[in-house]
Amino acid sequence: MRVLILGGTAWLGGAVARYAVGQGHEVTCLARGESGSVPEGARLVTGDRDRTDAYRPLVTPGWDLVVDVSRQPGQVRSALAALSDRSERWVFVSSGSVYADHSRPGAGLDTPLLPALDGDEAAPETYGEGKVACEVACRAARGDNVLLARSGLIVGYGDRSDRFGYWPGRFALAREDGGPVLVPKRTDRPAQFLDVTDLAAWIVDAGLRGVTGAVDAYGPQRVLGDVLAAAREVAGFAGVEVSVSDEALRDAGVEEFMGERSLALWLADPEWAGFSARDTTSAQVAGLSARGLVDTLRDALAWERELGLARTGRKAGLDRADELTIIEDARS
Ligand SMILES: NC(=O)c1ccc[n+]([C@@H]2O[C@H](COP(=O)([O-])OP(=O)(O)OC[C@H]3O[C@@H](n4cnc5c(N)ncnc54)[C@H](OP(=O)(O)O)[C@@H]3O)[C@@H](O)[C@H]2O)c1
Repeated sequence: MRVLILGGTAWLGGAVARYAVGQGHEVTCLARGESGSVPEGARLVTGDRDRTDAYRPLVTPGWDLVVDVSRQPGQVRSALAALSDRSERWVFVSSGSVYADHSRPGAGLDTPLLPALDGDEAAPETYGEGKVACEVACRAARGDNVLLARSGLIVGYGDRSDRFGYWPGRFALAREDGGPVLVPKRTDRPAQFLDVTDLAAWIVDAGLRGVTGAVDAYGPQRVLGDVLAAAREVAGFAGVEVSVSDEALRDAGVEEFMGERSLALWLADPEWAGFSARDTTSAQVAGLSARGLVDTLRDALAWERELGLARTGRKAGLDRADELTIIEDARS
């Protein structure tokens, strides 16, 4: 099959291209080439999607599948205008950030959406509204003949967000230095994520199979405690965990889930109680399956080792010295 990826030089797009090449498809990627290269076996057509002529080299002879990973409504609209008639199937990689409410565990596709962004360019703080506008553009151009893959937290090898990998990485570092590991006291809350390789494979297979409509492309519902236990095991950590209450973590200025000085996967705010507990029925019906947790953790740990377990200035998680200070304060 002839597969066109609008993207392909970064993380998920690269994984989509790699999987499609592995399946024997003929893979072309459109990107500027600023984020990296494309996987071996894929062809890169360089172009800037903010320019109207970017799609010109891609109009003929047409595509069996187009996969778009953009966050920018202007780029999505121009791609659809140039290529929608030239492609049998279309997958837009959207996000669970399109939803206006994240408080209800078990919520599904009927959750109200944010208003669509007015304009061509989304900023980081209007990411969700931008994705809604992208979805609206896809529907306007293709009616029902588009798969809107609303992804939750994507994890695994190659993740540059420093989030999920924090846990196996931190247990592995503590195994090396012999110190304790800080964990949230409440570990009964939900955790939900999907390995990048599972998402990439499903995007290609479901897209080519003709799956359409909105799908919450989320991994299985899990509990934080189970994830931490598996991370500990994968890292071979047999040391001490120090459990710290939500209040003490907040007092120490630790952020929830992501960002500098955060604890990955820790979500105590009731307004976000459903963020990591979405109903996965639409994903299961659409044939999305997830590999085992241990495999995902092993890959995430291998990537953390490449990045350096003891690195400082993480985008998410705690630097080791900071973590040990919080532990000391919690113990005194
Ligand atoms: N990480 C998560 O947990 C998470 C959760 C939900 C949804 N998502 C979604 O998952 C997707 C992630 O995709 P990703 O990792 O492949 O990519 P990404 O980091 O969003 O990169 C965007 C891709 O588009 C290309 N690009 C950006 N500006 C361009 C321009 N002006 N012209 C041409 N190409 C341009 C980039 O390549 P060049 O820079 O080389 O041009 C890159 O290949 C996104 O749709 C994101 O919204 C992520």
